Parts: sequence; structure tokens; C-alpha cells
Amino acid sequence: MLYTLARPVLFSLDAELAHELTLTALQRGHDLGIARWVAKHVSPLPVSVMGLNFPNPVGLAAGLDKTAAHIDALGSLGFGFIEAGTVTPRPQPGHAKPRMFRLVQAQALINRMGFNNQGADQFVDNVHQQRAFRDRGGILGLNIGKNGDTPIERALEDYRTCLRRVYDAADYVAVNVSSPNTKELRSLQSARQLDGLLTGLTDERKRLEDRHEKRVPIAVKIAPDLADESIPEIADQLVEHEMDAVIATNTTLARDQLRGQKYADESGGLSGKPLTERATQVVHLLARHLRGALPIIGVGGIMSGVDAVEKMQAGASLVQLYTGLIYSGPQLVAECVEAIRKSECVALSPRGPTSQRA
Ligand SMILES: Cc1cc2nc3c(=O)[nH]c(=O)nc-3n(C[C@H](O)[C@H](O)[C@H](O)COP(=O)(O)O)c2cc1C
Repeated sequence: MLYTLARPVLFSLDAELAHELTLTALQRGHDLGIARWVAKHVSPLPVSVMGLNFPNPVGLAAGLDKTAAHIDALGSLGFGFIEAGTVTPRPQPGHAKPRMFRLVQAQALINRMGFNNQGADQFVDNVHQQRAFRDRGGILGLNIGKNGDTPIERALEDYRTCLRRVYDAADYVAVNVSSPNTKELRSLQSARQLDGLLTGLTDERKRLEDRHEKRVPIAVKIAPDLADESIPEIADQLVEHEMDAVIATNTTLARDQLRGQKYADESGGLSGKPLTERATQVVHLLARHLRGALPIIGVGGIMSGVDAVEKMQAGASLVQLYTGLIYSGPQLVAECVEAIRKSECVALSPRGPTSQRA
């Protein structure tokens, strides 16, 4: 309700400014103890995925809280999990503004933020300053990447550095090799480069597991623009390297559905409604090949409860959203949870509710 009133004002502003104002207002609301009035109450729908117990299967996708400074405030919207980041080892400003565009007719966003963030040290400090979301059972994913000026041949060093810094603060770590806004990042999804990256990260995780006496699950986030034929190969590599989940998908470079619309020619990644179908297709291709060997986190164009159910029915164990939140407001979280509950995509197991596998 509150968001229905605020939306026209926010949509009259530059997209990134509106985003910052909303986060600031939500944070204020949270600090004053009134943020929970913004969201509908979300009833529990517990699921167990990657060995973690999620209070519900609907999460916030990476990129909205790049600095991990708003976990508790965003958590008050009812998410079962929040993925903060992408964080890079060193702080960086990202690309020049404007770098986020609202395509209202298409219910979409184009962004070329370029991993603007405060660096890994500040990121982890921010995580440590917040407890409320996790104390209530919320699951925290920390999404890692590489600095824009690190040559692609040395990407592993950046991912390793980030993994070391965030390991003890995360419930799971997401490895982002699919943002279109960092030069050559997506090439890390090619068989040879992915093998090198995952070998290095598995080694590092073993060391961290011994040091911290806990195994933190790692999920790898992939692009929707991969050729269909390469998706099974990537899935096999993730299983081989003992990854714990695959996140499908990041934003797309495709523009097919946007012809003639304002901002359609802006460079960057497209998210929201035009991505729904392709992201679901990628989830389906993964599920068909993996047959439950690895859980899938479905993301891309979830604008309604129906879209969330479609991702689960395609084989996702969890879903995430970002752009839908901008267009529909925070009640989308409860809508998705309720739609998933009604669809019975989350099956009951003898040990209690657990997420359905494809
Ligand atoms: C403004 C913006 C910034 C984003 N930044 C990141 C990021 O830093 N890391 C990442 O893995 N994904 C990032 N994403 C991608 C989202 O996490 C998500 O995968 C994508 O937007 C598709 O979901 P949606 O259609 O629900 O938005 C970003 C998306 C948007 C719109």
C-alpha cells in the first residue's frame, strides 16, 4: 500500500537516485522500528538447501545491497535469504553515471553499475554490525567478484582474496562469473577458465574449512546468454568441483523484446520481465541435466507469485528477485511465498519440509 503511493514519486526520479532514497528510507524505518509495516507479514515456509535451513525459499538477489550495509533493514521485508554484494577485494567506484535505467513499458531495468562497492574489508565490517536478520533465522549469502582493473588472467587471486575475507561471515558464498559489466568476466564461464577458477577456489575452501572448522557452501552464478549446449558442461564442472549450488541467472545482453523503447540501446545487463522466460529455460536445462545432483537457485524476471512458482516447477529449490521488487514493491515477497506454498512445490519430507529437487 505504502509502496503504491511512493512508486510514482520514485519513478519520476533517476533510477539510481530512487534506489538510494528507498534504501535510506527503509534503513531509517528499520532503525525506528517501523520498517516491518512496509511489508506484508510473511508466514514461515521452511526449506533445507545446501545443508542450510531457510525460513522461506524467497531471497533477495545480489546487487541491491552491494555493501552489505542494509541486511537487517532488507530482512524486515520478509526474505528467507539475502545475497549481499558483489564485493571486490579493493573498493571501486563502478562506471560513470547514469548507469541504471528504468524501462517502464517492459517492466525492466538496464544496469551497467560495474561492481561499485566499498571493498571486502568494509563489506565484512558491515556484515558484523548487523545481527537481527540472522538471529531470526535468515540466511546470508555473500557474493564475490573481481576488481575491474585486475587482468582476467589473475581473476583467481581476487576471488581467493574475497573468499578468505568473507568466509567466516557468510552462510554461503556466491561466485559471480556472469556480470556483463566487468570486462571479460563472463569468459570465466568457458570450460578451461572455469576449471582453473573452481580448482583454485576448492583448494582455498579446504584450507578455510580446516582453519574455521566449518564448511561454507559455494554457489556459482551463471549468465542467461550461454549457449544451451554449454549449460550441461558447466553443470558437470560444478558437480565435479564439489560446488554446492548454481544460481541461474544474471542479467542478459539480449534486447529482442525492447525494440523502439526508451533506453533500449543503453549498454549493460537487462533484468525484469523480458528475462523471465530465458531464465526459467536455463533453470529447466540445468535441472534436466543435474537430476538433483546440485540445487538450483532460480532468478530472473520474477515479477509475480506465478513467476516464482514457474521457476520452482522448472527445478529451482530457491528463488531470488530484484527488479520485481522495484515494480511491485515489497508485498511481492509475501506473494511469492504464498504462491509457492499453494503450489506445493516445496514438498514435505520425513525430516520436515525440504525443497523439492528436479
Ligand atoms: C541494478 C542491478 C545491479 C545488479 N548487481 C549485481 C551484482 O552486483 N552481482 C550479481 O551477481 N548480480 C547483480 N545483479 C543481477 C541480479 O542479481 C539478478 O540476477 C538479475 O537482475 C535478474 O533478476 P531480476 O530480473 O529479478 O532482477 C544486478 C541487477 C540489477 C538490476
